[in-house]
Amino acid sequence: MTKTRVAILGATGYTASELIHLFARHPYAEITALTTRSEDRPHVADVHPSVRGLLDLYLEPLTDDELAARADCVFCCLPHKASADRVPGLLDRGMKVIDLSADYRLDDAQTFTEWYGETHPDPDRLGKTPYGLPELFRDKIVGANLVANPGCYPTSSILPLTPLLLNGYIKPEDIIIDSKSGTSGAGKSLKPGNMYCTVNENFQAYGVGTHRHRPEIEQVIARKTGTLPSVIFTPHLVAMDRGIFTTTYSLPAKAADEKELIACLRDFYKNEQFVRVMDALPCVKAVAHTNFCDMTVRVVRNRVMTLSCIDNLVKGASGAALQNFNILYGYPENTALI
Ligand SMILES: NC(=O)c1ccc[n+]([C@@H]2O[C@H](COP(=O)([O-])OP(=O)(O)OC[C@H]3O[C@@H](n4cnc5c(N)ncnc54)[C@H](OP(=O)(O)O)[C@@H]3O)[C@@H](O)[C@H]2O)c1
Repeated sequence: MTKTRVAILGATGYTASELIHLFARHPYAEITALTTRSEDRPHVADVHPSVRGLLDLYLEPLTDDELAARADCVFCCLPHKASADRVPGLLDRGMKVIDLSADYRLDDAQTFTEWYGETHPDPDRLGKTPYGLPELFRDKIVGANLVANPGCYPTSSILPLTPLLLNGYIKPEDIIIDSKSGTSGAGKSLKPGNMYCTVNENFQAYGVGTHRHRPEIEQVIARKTGTLPSVIFTPHLVAMDRGIFTTTYSLPAKAADEKELIACLRDFYKNEQFVRVMDALPCVKAVAHTNFCDMTVRVVRNRVMTLSCIDNLVKGASGAALQNFNILYGYPENTALI
């Protein structure tokens, strides 16, 4: 059987490293190209020592034509804007693209400019690109050429909130989302806020009221439920490598106890292997290095709380990207994933 040939752009980064590990176990696909902007052409094992022996490739600054000669599907593990600069050229040459950046997640160019401070280089695809959260948008992903892989915080928020909104258990207004992420969520490039002495033994909020994942959460929930929710989103940086813990607080729209709300989530996700609805409280260690989203519900005073955990680099990025890849190519959705 001919294997699907995969290229990874931005191959020096964290999400790329995770993809290389995941594809090492994929029986129907092989990585055939890795890119970097560096002219030094480093060997993948020198960039990611943990993949030594798994893959014998060099990272190179490849053009779109060179990629088209070597790959069927491209994973863009690039920062926002850098991705949308490349995606049209890749699609024009017949490759499928799974974009891990935020470039194709929002509905319109105006919102992109408002939150990302840049003019979108490929505005016509906004609002038409499927959002790669298979549990909610699988039918739109099947047959697509381009998939917008979700943000990590949005995945951990949208998955527990959507069933409760769709079933009329919570109000779409005044939803508070409080999230904590490990440091790999910010990528590998050096930033003062991610230095060891800043992060170690520390726990801090950032982007209060201004984080770019808020419009993504609101627009994606609106796409699925038909109502634009109003969200306050507060992210925090935790001194751990990976993992996201998200707690949401919503006003009830009708009376229901925890048992009924958990049953709602269980029923909604009964056929989804990567969502584990549980009675107990979730924790990040239980989902580390997996594609699972663990979640539960609590009712405290007059608030419905959801508590959910993912690994930001797996279900929050590369695992979801691989899940989307499996859907695009008709492979069992859990191929190379747990
Ligand atoms: N980390 C997460 O948990 C996570 C979760 C969900 C989504 N994402 C998104 O996924 C994408 C990749 O994230 P990451 O964490 O892997 O980032 P990263 O570790 O910073 O890696 C990104 C790579 O892209 C290349 N790059 C940087 N600036 C570039 C530019 N202007 N033009 C072209 N290439 C450039 C760099 O490689 P070279 O310097 O070698 O060229 C860099 O190693 C981002 O858009 C991020 O927002 C990340």
